[in-house]
Amino acid sequence: MRHKDKSEVVFSDDASALIAKIIKRYPVGKQKSAILPVLHIAQAEFDGWLSVPVMDKVSEILSIQPIEVYEVASFYTMFNLKPVGKCVIEVCRTGPCWLMGAEDIVKYIEKKLNIKEGQTSSDGMFTLKTVECLASCGTAPMMQIGQTYHENLTTNKVDDILDDYRNQGVCISHFAKDKIKA
Ligand code: FES
Repeated sequence: MRHKDKSEVVFSDDASALIAKIIKRYPVGKQKSAILPVLHIAQAEFDGWLSVPVMDKVSEILSIQPIEVYEVASFYTMFNLKPVGKCVIEVCRTGPCWLMGAEDIVKYIEKKLNIKEGQTSSDGMFTLKTVECLASCGTAPMMQIGQTYHENLTTNKVDDILDDYRNQGVCISHFAKDKIKA
């Protein structure tokens, strides 16, 4: 565990500045409204997942109860509540994608990486998740890795895509670190 408690959680200067800028978008006393972008920044800052100390720090920054942060972070699938691999694979599991073979894609990835949904490959490269509609139903079945959509998937395409990521050796989170400097 990287942080024992929230006192050990320190955001970078760039991230702190962006958080302050986002909070200012809202009326005084309504800083809770900034919770989603702040959680995205926190996740990008701290290895792609939200530990309890990190969420407690967010509650402190927003002057709200920790439970309010836990509720939001556990509701949305884009937030990870346990450590993840370098690349988080999010396969859409909603109706149109499911009808077009998403279940087979999930099973194929599970077998290929020797993991189950929600788990991370032994080399720490990939975490497999299923998520609700990613608004690309016309190109079902599809999945998102980092900020990239991969569409009209077949098992052959999955092989090529995962090989490419493995060869590149890096993935980026939804809320890439470069956005923190924007
Ligand atoms: S159902 Fe998969 S993107 Fe909409």
